[in-house]
Amino acid sequence: MKVNHHALELEQNYLFSEVAKRIREYQAANPEAPLYKLSIGDVTRPLSRVITDEMKAAAEDMSHAETFHGYGAEQGELFLREAIAGYYARRGTKLDPDDIFISDGAKNDLGNLCDLFDADNTVLLPNPVYPVYYDTSIMSGRRVQFLDGTKENGFLPMPPADVHADIIYLCSPNNPTGAVYNREQLAAWIRYAKAEHALILFDAAYEAYIRDPALPHSIYEIDGAAECAIEINSLSKTAGFTGVRCGWTIVPKTLQYEASLHQMWFRRTATKYNGCSYIIQRAAAAVFTEPGLQAVSADISYYMENARLIKAALQKAGIPSTGGENAPYVWFEAPQQADSWKCFDQLLYGFGIAGTPGAGFGTAGQGWMRFSSFGTRETVSRAAELLAASGGNFEK
Ligand code: MLT
Repeated sequence: MKVNHHALELEQNYLFSEVAKRIREYQAANPEAPLYKLSIGDVTRPLSRVITDEMKAAAEDMSHAETFHGYGAEQGELFLREAIAGYYARRGTKLDPDDIFISDGAKNDLGNLCDLFDADNTVLLPNPVYPVYYDTSIMSGRRVQFLDGTKENGFLPMPPADVHADIIYLCSPNNPTGAVYNREQLAAWIRYAKAEHALILFDAAYEAYIRDPALPHSIYEIDGAAECAIEINSLSKTAGFTGVRCGWTIVPKTLQYEASLHQMWFRRTATKYNGCSYIIQRAAAAVFTEPGLQAVSADISYYMENARLIKAALQKAGIPSTGGENAPYVWFEAPQQADSWKCFDQLLYGFGIAGTPGAGFGTAGQGWMRFSSFGTRETVSRAAELLAASGGNFEK
C-alpha cells in the first residue's frame, strides 16, 4: 500500500488544532488563570427559537409514518434550495435552485471540490488566507502560486499581469484580514479568470457581516461570474451553525470548461454523499424566513459590536488594525515587530487572551495577528479592557 505522499507535505498540525493545543498547554500550566478566547471563529450565541422550533417539528415528523423521511434528494431538498435562491434574490441575484447543492459545510465542500480537478493545475492563492485552500490543494498534488495581500494593497491582491492560473481561490469578506473586494475588483478577477480560462472558487462564508451597502455579497452580483465561478457558502457564521452543519455550493450549468462541472459535481455528490440530514435542512430553511433572518441579523449585530469593541481597544493601545467593519475578524500588527507566534504567546501568557497568529494563514501574515469577534460580550469586553490598558506593550 502506498500513501498519498502529498498529504505528508502538510505542516504537522492544522492551524486551529495547533492553536487549540497551545491553549490547552497554557491552561494545564495555569489552571486558575483566566482565558479570553478570541482565536477560532466559533460562534457563542445560542440558536434562535425560530430555528430550534423548526428542528423539533422536523424531528417530530420523523416519528410518524406519514411524515417520515429516508434518503433525501441528492442535491439537497428543493424547499431549502428555493429558500436559498430567495435569499440571493433579495439582493437582486437570480439563481436557479437546480444549481445549488446543499452540504454539511463550506470547509467540507472546499475539500470535496478538489475531486473535480486534475492534479495538473496551477492554483492561485491570496496570502494570507484560510488555510484549507492551501492544505487541500497540496493534498491533491497541485502547484500553488501565492499573491501577497499587504498593508499597501489593503490585503486585497489583484490579478497578476504575468502569472497563469487555472484555479483561483477568493475569500471575501476575507478570513483572516476582514478585507472585502468591491464590485470593480471582482469584475477584474472575472476578466482575468476568463482570459486565463481559469475557474474562481469564491468563498462567501462571511457575506452576512458586510455592513457597507455598496459591497457585493456574492460573486454572482457581477456580470460574467456564472461562466467562471463556483460559490461556496455556509450557515456556520450566518446563523450559528458551526455545530449544526449546513452549507451550500453553487455550480452553475453555464460554467464553460471542457466538461460540465455541474454534471461532474452532481455525479460526485450522488456517489460520495448522502446529504445533510432532513432535520437540519428544515432548520436551515427556517433561517431564510422573515423571523429567521431577523433573529440571525440580531446575532450578527452582536458580533459586530464585539468587533467594534476590539478595534476601539486596539486603537486606544496604539496598535494599527484593519478589518472588523464588514467582517467578524480584526487583523492587527503584532506590537514591537514581534513574530506572530511570539505575539500569540505574549498575549496568552501575559493577558490570558488567545488570538490566532497571522503567520498561520501564510507567510504574508507574519508579524500580524487575528482576533475573532465571535466571543461572548463578557469575554470580549474584558479582553478589550486588558488590551487598551496594555498601551500596546505586550512584553510583560
Ligand atoms: C476560523 O477561525 O478561521 C474559522 O472558524 C475556521 C473555519 O471556519 O473552519
